[in-house]
Amino acid sequence: MSKTIAVIRGDGIGPEIMDATLRVLDALSVGLEYEFVEAGLVAQEKFGTLLPQSTLDSIARHRIALKSPLTTPVGEGFSSINVELRKRFDLYANVRPAISFPNTRSRFPENVDLVTVRENTEGAYIGEGQAVSEDGATATLTQRITRHGSERIVRYAFDLARRTGRRKVSIVHKANILKSTSGLFLKVAREVAAGYPEIVCNELIVDNCCMQLVMVPEQFDVIVTTNLFGDIISDLCAGLVGGLGLAPGANIGADAAIFEAVHGSAPDIAGKGIANPCALLLGAAQLLDHLNQGDKALLLRTAIRATLEARDRVTPDLGGSGTTSTFADSIISRLFN
Ligand code: NAI
Ligand code: MG
Repeated sequence: MSKTIAVIRGDGIGPEIMDATLRVLDALSVGLEYEFVEAGLVAQEKFGTLLPQSTLDSIARHRIALKSPLTTPVGEGFSSINVELRKRFDLYANVRPAISFPNTRSRFPENVDLVTVRENTEGAYIGEGQAVSEDGATATLTQRITRHGSERIVRYAFDLARRTGRRKVSIVHKANILKSTSGLFLKVAREVAAGYPEIVCNELIVDNCCMQLVMVPEQFDVIVTTNLFGDIISDLCAGLVGGLGLAPGANIGADAAIFEAVHGSAPDIAGKGIANPCALLLGAAQLLDHLNQGDKALLLRTAIRATLEARDRVTPDLGGSGTTSTFADSIISRLFN
């Protein structure tokens, strides 16, 4: 395979974990070429804008980006570069796996293997129609859910289940209270689910879903839900299995897809060379799956798991005394054995 992808090295720990990730990808010999482009603080300094047109063009051209975390300066321009990227490229599916790994100080070091599929473009989360009354006493927001938005995200979730051999999809909603918006999502989700008779489908109200996730996370396989619920649930799931250092995410649309770590630029440890590269590496594994390189993705995930199992040169967040670079070396040494 030969494929060029856009690479955003990002802010804070971004460049450190990206360098480690690209080193591991190169060792895997996947045949990827990189076009390095800027966003975030680095872009602000160089081009006077957080999201230069050249970066957007590169993502549009290559249709795939691997992105490190970006620092969004407080109180400037749009609220978040990430939200802006989702909007620009209509990246409607936010796909976040949460899988148990050994030696991560997590409450569930085994048996959790689930994927949250979050609608990424509508609902309360996008802040449509935000307003505060003149006297400051009343705040409002529009929560808009569409048939189109609901149908494509639920279809994405069921197709993902079918494609990856997962057996169950849980539709998470609050239709008992939010009868119009969550009600429409649930109605459309049921219609879509009817087209996938081989996949078990259940429905959960979001608050019950959270309790079930904490008590019996093993029962979940694929979760599909609207934007704000998905934002909260996917972090909850990351917390079940070892936290931010191990949580990747993909933002997928019809024309482009951006793969990343869920965590931010971690200014408190930036420049120290001790950031855990695994979240971005697992994002890279999602990218490989997306490019139909499932065998390479499996090699990568297996090497990460083996490295964690051995606690070999892992970073301080996992209780080790390794560096970003030694962690990557340790993973590379396990890629092919
Ligand atoms: P954060 O995720 O950067 O850090 C939270 C805590 O987790 C910190 O103590 C940090 O040291 C630790 N941590 C995060 N990633 C780690 C890693 N790979 N290895 C070891 N420890 C790690 O969240 P925070 O501090 O709220 O945000 C910092 C900046 O990142 C802000 O400017 C925020 O806007 C931005 N951010 C960007 C995101 C993105 O680009 N996808 C996502 C979240 C935040
Ligand atoms: Mg979030």
